Amino acid sequence: MSSKKIKIEKKFALKEKMSIVIIGSKKFKQSTVNAMISEAQEVFDKAMFVTIDKIQIITTEKGLTLKYKDQNLLTDYDVIYPRFSSNDFLLGEAILKAIETSKAYNPLNLKSFQITNHKYYTSQKLSKEGVPGILSTLLISPKYIDLVIKEIGYPIVMKLISGFAGKGVVLVKDKGQMNSLLDTVHLFEECICMQKFVKSKNPGTDVRCYVTGDEVTGIMRIAKKGDWRSNLSRGGSAKIIEMTQEIKKIALTSAKILNMDICAIDLMDNNGKYVVIEVNFMPGPFKKYIGNLMIKKWIKFLYKKGIENKKKIK
Ligand SMILES: Nc1ncnc2c1ncn2[C@@H]1O[C@H](COP(=O)(O)OP(=O)(O)O)[C@@H](O)[C@H]1O
Ligand SMILES: [Mg+2]
Repeated sequence: MSSKKIKIEKKFALKEKMSIVIIGSKKFKQSTVNAMISEAQEVFDKAMFVTIDKIQIITTEKGLTLKYKDQNLLTDYDVIYPRFSSNDFLLGEAILKAIETSKAYNPLNLKSFQITNHKYYTSQKLSKEGVPGILSTLLISPKYIDLVIKEIGYPIVMKLISGFAGKGVVLVKDKGQMNSLLDTVHLFEECICMQKFVKSKNPGTDVRCYVTGDEVTGIMRIAKKGDWRSNLSRGGSAKIIEMTQEIKKIALTSAKILNMDICAIDLMDNNGKYVVIEVNFMPGPFKKYIGNLMIKKWIKFLYKKGIENKKKIK
């Protein structure tokens, strides 16, 4: 056998076979999924995407099975990447719990899903650990609203606990607006979170920090003219920025506290000091502005962690 052929065979033998399943939200975005799967196919030997509603959780005396067609996702893959939103809450919780019984590498966990899907818990958890945040209050009954207003003062940002994409976030400027809003909130028996309005040096902007392991990628989001919310889904735009050490540290610390290897931490400049606004369990990749940059980073990272994990469990 020629030495060249031996070398090639050796290289092949050294390469671990790696597989990934991405379990996605019912409300997945086709272009994101296509890009993720095609990047994953470049790196992994097997890559599959399945939506949360196509999976069956089966409990037997032998343990849990996460069934999709004839596969058990818990044992058939080296990496499981859950991408769930608050729309998937009930099933998402059960599936994340099942994934925790698997030996596969999962960059996320059930606890972080529960916390990040609850805007108030996120603020509470992070501020308890010393991460700079903004004064937030949770309330169910509008009876206590006067107390909250006394503490926070107008303008107040009112958020539905499980809102996302800028939906369910309202700016309340005075008592008149507050009263009419509270009637509606009360009607739907929604839980709400009240926050102090962050007066940024650059109004309508925030910094999205994509955390991928120990790496942080910073994006500035700029709200559409006339809106104060910087969400891209509300017409905002985005560009890559250099981050200060302060921003990087806040993002990495927040991700560590929540035990998330892949996530996005959104920060705002509050009078020159950065504060965490929200943590995203399933960040969008902002393809329109940064192409496949984040998707590539995620897939590469998942592959690396999959290999490390396989060595560990052997
Ligand atoms: N307390 C606040 N003060 C000022 N602006 C805020 C505040 N909270 C949120 N925003 C703005 O509103 C946007 C949406 O709020 P966020 O809490 O991230 O909800 P969502 O989950 O809908 O994205 C943020 O990206 C930010 O631009
Ligand atoms: Mg947000």
